Amino acid sequence: MALDLTKYIASVPDYPEKGVIFRDISPLMADGAAYREATDKLVDYAKDKGAEMVVGPEARGFIVGCPIAYELGIGFAPARKQGKLPRETVKATYDLEYGTSALYLHKDAIKPGQKVLVTDDLLATGGTISATIKLVEELGGIVVGTAFIIELKDLHGREKISDYDIFSLMEY
Ligand code: PRP
Ligand code: HPA
Repeated sequence: MALDLTKYIASVPDYPEKGVIFRDISPLMADGAAYREATDKLVDYAKDKGAEMVVGPEARGFIVGCPIAYELGIGFAPARKQGKLPRETVKATYDLEYGTSALYLHKDAIKPGQKVLVTDDLLATGGTISATIKLVEELGGIVVGTAFIIELKDLHGREKISDYDIFSLMEY
């Protein structure tokens, strides 16, 4: 029987600062059946979209993206923070609440024309996923879909990626 995956998300008030409710996926990952069910749903989506490669941003995008790639028998490329990738990279910057940050992909991570699923644990303002999409496209990849465990509706991330198909397992 299908699990209610929302039961495996911990809602933590006033973290990391007062007034914010932090949605924590770690109880979902800690439960084998729930982690598998969430992954299976994301795999079905990736299969539907014809994904040939998965890209996820550091760090929680790895937790979500790697099991999808494994299950489909396709590759995974990590979009990493500064100073983590040893070979030639492309870079995309994005805005944080205070200042900016950047993500990087190895230049040979994606083949031109390759169909890519971009995935992360959570869509908030959309800055992280937009930067990840930019990296994939700079290398000639085609983003066939974006997939998340959680979408935080109030932060309007979907407006930033409105040109792309968006799939999430739950919304807050
Ligand atoms: C969190 C989360 C997403 C991103 C969502 O990652 O895992 O990647 O924020 O926010 P956005 O839509 O506003 O960009 P974080 O930057 O905390 O990094 P981490 O995964 O390394 O903890
Ligand atoms: N949970 C996890 N990561 C986040 C959140 C959240 O509520 N908001 C922004 N990044």
